[in-house]
Amino acid sequence: MPTAVKVGILTISDRGAAGLYPDKSGPVIHQIITEQLGATVARTAIIPDDFETIKSTLIAWAEEDNLNLILTSGGTGFAPRDVTPEATKQVIHRETPGLVLAMLQRSLAVTPHAMLSRMAAGIRGETLIVNLPGSPKAARENLETILPALPHALELLANDPNAEKSH
Ligand code: MTE
Repeated sequence: MPTAVKVGILTISDRGAAGLYPDKSGPVIHQIITEQLGATVARTAIIPDDFETIKSTLIAWAEEDNLNLILTSGGTGFAPRDVTPEATKQVIHRETPGLVLAMLQRSLAVTPHAMLSRMAAGIRGETLIVNLPGSPKAARENLETILPALPHALELLANDPNAEKSH
């Protein structure tokens, strides 16, 4: 794993961004990745379910802030405003379906509602981007599923001399 793993936590919620609802999943993610991954949280933000805002934030955090890992929370469901996976897929260069498969497999054992998450995950340059569902419980269950594979994943990304940076 890179010596200091820099993580961004992006909470995607119209109500959260408007200050109508507290960000409950962001702090849960923060605690898990600092305590269990030993990572540093370099960026946090709460933004609305807006395609262009999601896309531009992900690109800025990957390209300008050089984060190793970006975890998004929310906007993966079936509601008309849920566009997090679509924005993420436009930003990533390489998909990481194994992470999504593992999260869905574990989540389906917890609740059939896991079928309703359309979350995506992939790599842009040297940054791994993973969508998590929005509820704190769902975010925790999904993040804890992929946690054991993250150190090796981030190590591979940091060492890849061919990692594509932009397009
Ligand atoms: N995954 C786990 N592990 N646990 C859960 O409680 N909730 C589901 C699903 N994934 C859930 C889960 C529900 S109810 C929904 S609607 C979808 O995630 C999408 O959530 P989002 O729109 O907040 O991203």
